[in-house]
Amino acid sequence: MNNLRGYMRSSLQATKKVMHLPNVAARKPSERRAPNAPVPNALSRISVSQLLPRHNKQVEVPRMTHEPQPFILPQYFREGAPLPLTIPKHFTMQEESVKFDPERHLNICKEIAVSRSHGSVYTKPFRLLSEEGVEVLRRIIEANEEHAKQMVRSPKCLRGLGYRSQFVRDLSTYRPLLDLLSSLAGEPISLHAHGMNIGHTNFGEVGGAAAEKWHVDSVDYVLIVMLSDPVGMQGGDLQLYLPQAAADAHSSWDQLSGGTARKEDVRSLQFPSAGYATFVQGSKIFHTVSPLLAAKGPRITLVNSFTSNNVFKPDSTRFSSYKDTFLDPPDVVDIEFSRHRAARAIGQLEHLLNASWDTPAVELASVLQLAGQELLMTSRLLRGEEKDMLSCNSAEQKRIGGDVKAG
Ligand SMILES: [Fe+2]
Repeated sequence: MNNLRGYMRSSLQATKKVMHLPNVAARKPSERRAPNAPVPNALSRISVSQLLPRHNKQVEVPRMTHEPQPFILPQYFREGAPLPLTIPKHFTMQEESVKFDPERHLNICKEIAVSRSHGSVYTKPFRLLSEEGVEVLRRIIEANEEHAKQMVRSPKCLRGLGYRSQFVRDLSTYRPLLDLLSSLAGEPISLHAHGMNIGHTNFGEVGGAAAEKWHVDSVDYVLIVMLSDPVGMQGGDLQLYLPQAAADAHSSWDQLSGGTARKEDVRSLQFPSAGYATFVQGSKIFHTVSPLLAAKGPRITLVNSFTSNNVFKPDSTRFSSYKDTFLDPPDVVDIEFSRHRAARAIGQLEHLLNASWDTPAVELASVLQLAGQELLMTSRLLRGEEKDMLSCNSAEQKRIGGDVKAG
């Protein structure tokens, strides 16, 4: 625990770092790992290794049942479930004339400003896509816009592009980009196992409701890419709630919904142009998009989701979010969630296969108990016997718009 506290202290002290990054788009093909290839359980290859935790420190994991004591568990890193090789029924990969080419479609800036406060991470908007990359994505979205739907917290949303567009799939699984985002996160991460999350696209209309209401995400991290020209745009700001005093998700929600949130604790992020992106620990930071008051056209953002590779970190993935909020096809979401939880369980048990002879029985028991409980909960969710929606992301969110009520 002392090591962990030391790491947390150094993370907190590392606020607003400017990170100097390699030109990932220019990396030689021989240096690129195949998408979803296993990552060695080592951290040294990540450029900001000083920000990364070491392995096998003791961390406390919240209880999943009514046990009297928290588990004492190690950290163990394993890639999340790879995308399935086949496409779900009712989805078709479209014919595309352009193949993803990082040299042409990415233009990642050399420095990215990262803020780490109260254990949560976000970046200032940074250049990610080239102009050509923006144009290609806009054409793909336009070609698939007929599949967009209204959601509980979003007036118009397109999901599942990873099952319709090879370009979006290749961009999302591009290994050097995943490595860069791991550096920003301060831990190894994977593209989230729910393929429906790939290329999640939000549409905000002028005069419409907030593109997204205050919420936390059902994934650890998100990469939000602006695809509209923000020049002349009024409103439509991505807003983060960053209370000065350390607050967990529930107390942040109490402040936002109870009218005690302070406007000075809301940080608005503006994207200088289309092709800029921000990386946010959306599972910890409440965020929204303010109503769009004026713009040349709809505000379109593409969002990709990522999960920590630490299989003992509490899982941010909420089955009910995908089933009941995003209304993903039941046959798809059932498989995606099962594969996601299976990958975590494999990692948890794989850790036991490597257990040293001096591993205490309490740790062995904790690992087995956690793995068993996660799988049991997964089966209950699939059978409809449980709901796992955070209360702050449930029906309550419907009444909280895109503005802080007080302060
Ligand atoms: Fe979000």
